[in-house]
Amino acid sequence: MKICIVGASGKLGQYLVQHALARGYEVVSVCRQESVGKLDRFEGRITVIPGATDDREVIERAVAGCDGVLVVMTPVGVSGYSTGTTQAVLDHAPPGARLVFSCGWHITRDGRDVYSWKLKLMVNVVGRLARLARMVDLDDQVEAARRIFASDTRWTVVRGSDLEEGESQGLPVWSEHVGDPVLASNLTRRVDFALFMVEALVNDDLVHEAPAIVGRETPSALTHAA
Ligand SMILES: NC(=O)c1ccc[n+]([C@@H]2O[C@H](COP(=O)([O-])OP(=O)(O)OC[C@H]3O[C@@H](n4cnc5c(N)ncnc54)[C@H](OP(=O)(O)O)[C@@H]3O)[C@@H](O)[C@H]2O)c1
Repeated sequence: MKICIVGASGKLGQYLVQHALARGYEVVSVCRQESVGKLDRFEGRITVIPGATDDREVIERAVAGCDGVLVVMTPVGVSGYSTGTTQAVLDHAPPGARLVFSCGWHITRDGRDVYSWKLKLMVNVVGRLARLARMVDLDDQVEAARRIFASDTRWTVVRGSDLEEGESQGLPVWSEHVGDPVLASNLTRRVDFALFMVEALVNDDLVHEAPAIVGRETPSALTHAA
């Protein structure tokens, strides 16, 4: 299995590399030139292609011959970074490749998610302030997700809860809609968010799904998971 990890140098990205190597996958990774050093500990075990993840030429080269692509969707800046990255992957990934994208709970596929006041506040107030400061553009990630949902590629959009660091607790549990009782604890270990994405590469039940995840050891998962 040959996979590409787009945005490999970030916190989530490095866990993705770790899990993929543990499974014996051949890994090609894309990250910004200035972040290549963050992948030093994987030297000799992965191929690094430096470049902006929304550079279509970079993505075309990186995903060539891959069976799967893991994409960290990052809404940084206000120049459509998430949308550009996503569109490049959708356009250039080999036909039939499994595509797995990360985002947060605020992305909704069918509008049937039920959000807490805290999450609404984050998106509507903090999100808007961050856009005004030209740091983060959540609408860009929303547009990127809309394009994925409309695509006929073999995609999965993994929607992460709040994240924390720590030892793996195993594969998170998931539900179709935020607001479902199993998700109430709203916390997942970052290492397990990555685990879920890597597992999704070989789980065809997740094709065309947008699972919202939560840590399997959280109180809500322990109470409500089947
Ligand atoms: N943080 C949370 O609480 C949370 C919660 C739910 C879901 N998520 C989702 O998880 C994913 C990553 O989250 P994370 O918190 O773990 O972050 P992360 O892994 O550290 O990822 C951040 C990514 O953004 C890139 N980046 C940062 N600044 C950039 C810039 N100015 N230009 C271009 N790229 C830049 C980083 O690349 P460099 O290494 O080059 O800087 C890295 O690939 C996202 O899809 C996010 O929506 C996060």
